[in-house]
Amino acid sequence: MTVIVSEPVLNNEGNNNDKNVNGEGPADLAFDGGFVVPESNAFGHSFRFFFDGLRKGERKKSSRAGILQKESYNQTYEFAKKKKEHYGKLDKALMSIWECCELLNEFVDESDPDLDEPQIEHLLQTAEAIRRDYPNEDWLHLTALIHDLGKVLLHPAFGEEPQWCVVGDTFPLGCAFNESIVHHQFFKENPDYNNPNFNTKLGNYTENCGLDKVTMSWGHDEYMYLVAKDNNTKLPKAGLFIIRFHSFYALHRAGAYTYLMNDDDKEMLKWLHVFNKYDLYSKSKVKINIEEVKPYYLSLIEKYFPAKLRW
Ligand SMILES: [Fe+2]
Ligand SMILES: [Fe+2]
Repeated sequence: MTVIVSEPVLNNEGNNNDKNVNGEGPADLAFDGGFVVPESNAFGHSFRFFFDGLRKGERKKSSRAGILQKESYNQTYEFAKKKKEHYGKLDKALMSIWECCELLNEFVDESDPDLDEPQIEHLLQTAEAIRRDYPNEDWLHLTALIHDLGKVLLHPAFGEEPQWCVVGDTFPLGCAFNESIVHHQFFKENPDYNNPNFNTKLGNYTENCGLDKVTMSWGHDEYMYLVAKDNNTKLPKAGLFIIRFHSFYALHRAGAYTYLMNDDDKEMLKWLHVFNKYDLYSKSKVKINIEEVKPYYLSLIEKYFPAKLRW
């Protein structure tokens, strides 16, 4: 498959057929097969991917409950390890952070009941809201901008992963599923549920081993964390922590799994709580003037990331 964005994209291991790039088209949004597909992106740039399959309506919009149910059946320890190994090679694309924002702008997260706008709106709303209240924490503004970029896993160039293994809540694998995980009842169908190595409180882990030792369910959080870390971001550890655990609701909303945390994690959890308020709150219809704020975010990207990242 050849995929072209505004810069060349490297090889891929996806199972898709050839896709084309189309730089033209009218400005209206068209809802198609579960995705909002903009005819041109909100940045006025010419590149975009062309979803042949999606336009034929191959993908159906699914409900949040449906996504979470599939997620709870399918996310096993082995599954997450394999995905991490596969995507951890970072050989799917070469692009800048901003290019990824543009790419992601073509998607709506089906699992999110509050979010029916292109992703860039959500990212900038979150970042700008935090910037207003924490003007000196520029790393936190950038963290907010990039926290959902891992959703590019939905894209054909990244294997067109199903929603259940990209979005939705995340949780530790290799130990018992905590009852505070949403739709906990579905986990009885998960093969790990009856695995004696994995179904005790600690399972594979030791008390207070630190969350960096823990295998999390696979999704956009884990992927973006890998991308940022392995491209040698200069973001502080708290930024990486937010990216990796922002969908770990059992931890930051219900306070579960604290026995896996070390002292560092406890410190960083404070920042995750700050971030999470804005992540949820900013899902509003506040319009952001992208061109106005873009130079600021480009300067942060330059400060904390290389010009091109491996994805
Ligand atoms: Fe997210
Ligand atoms: Fe988000």
